[in-house]
Amino acid sequence: MSRHEGHLTRVLRVDAKEPDVHAIREAAAALLEDELVAFPTETVYGLGANALSARAVQALFEAKGRPATDPIIVHVASAADVRQIARDVPAIVDELAARFWPGPLTLVLPKLPIVTDAITAGLHTVGVRVPSHPVAQLLLREAGVPVAAPSANRFSRPSPTHARHVVDDLDGLVAIVLDAGPASVGVESTVLDLTVSPFLVRRPGGVSVEELRTIVPDIVVRSRYAHGGEPLAAPGQLLRHYAPRAELTLYLGDTKAVATRMAADTRALTASGARVGILAPEEDLLAMAPMIASQAARGKVRTVGYGARRDVARAARELFAALRTLDAEDVDKILASAPEAQQLGAAIHDRLIRAAEGRVRYV
Ligand code: TXA
Ligand code: MG
Repeated sequence: MSRHEGHLTRVLRVDAKEPDVHAIREAAAALLEDELVAFPTETVYGLGANALSARAVQALFEAKGRPATDPIIVHVASAADVRQIARDVPAIVDELAARFWPGPLTLVLPKLPIVTDAITAGLHTVGVRVPSHPVAQLLLREAGVPVAAPSANRFSRPSPTHARHVVDDLDGLVAIVLDAGPASVGVESTVLDLTVSPFLVRRPGGVSVEELRTIVPDIVVRSRYAHGGEPLAAPGQLLRHYAPRAELTLYLGDTKAVATRMAADTRALTASGARVGILAPEEDLLAMAPMIASQAARGKVRTVGYGARRDVARAARELFAALRTLDAEDVDKILASAPEAQQLGAAIHDRLIRAAEGRVRYV
């Protein structure tokens, strides 16, 4: 099973609400021995390493295959612990923490020297988050150290929302996987940079910008393709992110317009011999079905649904697993659509626009 000689990955099942304390203790002990532990958070599974150990952080980069230019989020058990790793913590952190922590929000703050350059990719700032998942909470408390944890996928794969995704990507490279079932949010945390003025959302995620603005009205959002413009020179933003094996094109618009256009393009592509994957919310799949019925009957089309426009939380929860399903299929092109960009929809747009590498059709 293992890729590294002598390294075996152990998967420990734990209850998501009342985790077995023995499993948590084993995982905490492994972290303190500089081993890697994958653990569930409410957003996605994280690949954890003792943030205070240079050796463990080095192993983290190697396991992920991640370039050293991308900073890693540090996880702590409570808002009070933030001052162990960050300095000049502004008062707004207390307000944000009271409302959103523990939860899917990462705050970028000036770092203390205890946080190494390896974690921050040489930046003077650190991204810190207090996860709400009971397993993550217990693990952080039991380990008693800050835990550096990127999403537990190999670099350029979709983030893992199930423990089996972690095993698919990292078997043999991680000592323990704590399996607590599917992640409840499904997209990564929102990254809010408090070291610039006005405050800047660097990655839309599990806490919506609308919710953030109830506390900080004048934040700016600048994800990579926020306005269809040029990529920006922000840390972690210029990297090629997840890209499926098959070229993905994103169609944005209402169900009727999107379904009509996607169906037409599907017919054209299959007519020229291509096999097409379709990734769309329920409403769009339903609208499209009669328009591509004969192509589907001939096995030329593979459709994978994720959530629904009317249930954007479910769409967020199911997105990454759906992308993994299509990645495993023998398709030449992927045509995708998405719910509106409000609330969690903004995070879905961001991830799909990256996956499309800019191939977006506004219909
Ligand atoms: O939900 C999440 O945030 C998950 C779970 C495991 O907590 N973690 C996660 O980590 O998504 P990762 O490494 O895949 O994404 C970290 C993001 C990147 O976009 C990175 O550029 C940004 O956070 N980031 C981290 N530290 C930063 C810093 N000091 N300044 C700016 N951006 C930072
Ligand atoms: Mg990631």
